[in-house]
Amino acid sequence: MRTVVARCDEASIERAAELIRAGELVAFPTETVYGLGANGLNDAAVRKIFEAKGRPADNPLILHISRLEQLPPLIDGALPDKARLLAERFWPGPLTMVLKKSALVPGAVTAGLDTVAIRMPSHPAARALIEKTGLPIAAPSANRSGRPSPTRAEHVLEDMDGRIGLILDGGPCRVGLESTVLDATGKVPRVLRPGGVTPEMIEAALGAVEVDESALRPLKEGEKARSPGMKYRHYAPKGRLTIIRGAADAVAREIARRYDEAEAAGQRCAILASSARRYGDRNVRPLGETPEQVAANLFQALREMDGEGVERMFAEAVEISGLGLAVMNRMGRAAAFDIVEV
Ligand code: TXA
Ligand code: MG
Repeated sequence: MRTVVARCDEASIERAAELIRAGELVAFPTETVYGLGANGLNDAAVRKIFEAKGRPADNPLILHISRLEQLPPLIDGALPDKARLLAERFWPGPLTMVLKKSALVPGAVTAGLDTVAIRMPSHPAARALIEKTGLPIAAPSANRSGRPSPTRAEHVLEDMDGRIGLILDGGPCRVGLESTVLDATGKVPRVLRPGGVTPEMIEAALGAVEVDESALRPLKEGEKARSPGMKYRHYAPKGRLTIIRGAADAVAREIARRYDEAEAAGQRCAILASSARRYGDRNVRPLGETPEQVAANLFQALREMDGEGVERMFAEAVEISGLGLAVMNRMGRAAAFDIVEV
């Protein structure tokens, strides 16, 4: 199959909508990461997503909607009050809510669970695409399973060339990390995957929120993942990544020491740091000073280092508050939670 990359405009979005209605796959930009979309009500179309990504069949997908009226038919019973409040406050935006599913949602979307994940993205092209199809669009991140999520159309092409017909190019994604996945079925909502809508923001809106412990550590042997996606090896770069945490100067010294040692041993090395300032002429990927900047640059940096054949990487830890929780969740996974305190 030939893969066309088209800038987002009226004509390309119309073409994308036709493909979705015809049961085909289209990659499209959202404010978080690029998604790989299919008609979310068509079981056969949704199965193509799993095939194109190489995704395990027991990892459910998110349904993307563009207006609140699309939600009631997808869920069982009334929308819980707290979920309604969160929808009013954070949609459209990087929040996904897990709710009880209705019979309308195909089993392929939810991987057989009795819940369904729903999100209303804010990216104008994503919204226009959903509007034009008139359908909920099932979409995971548009990477091959296990790779970092794509934050640019080029990343999607790297992973999906020949596997899908069309990639809508909307430029770099603003947030750069996937949405917050929030289980809204219980009394107190629980963050299953941290993202752009932070626990602090949810707490300010609702008064209480829980964060699943798996956000900052690997699953234990035999432990069941509440969010099935959390159990898979994710964002795994080809080289080995170690995160160093502590006071800024001590962190920089430790990273420089380890880098020099690995380099002397003949390994190709790189540093993920807020800036190159403390590292002399070593190979540094500056990610930015704020968690927002680090979030927007992290996946791009991981892909670049893969492309350059980097074998050993060291990263400065980020403060675990606000968006920093999501950053450390993704970085931690990319490092297989190899985190050193100094
Ligand atoms: O920002 C995003 O969320 C992007 C864009 C494209 O919207 N999508 C995305 O999808 O990251 P994906 O498939 O890569 O991640 C969805 C996550 C997975 O960890 C999955 O296990 C979880 O959401 N999930 C989906 N349905 C669920 C459910 N019913 N219960 C618990 N977790 C669920
Ligand atoms: Mg994904």
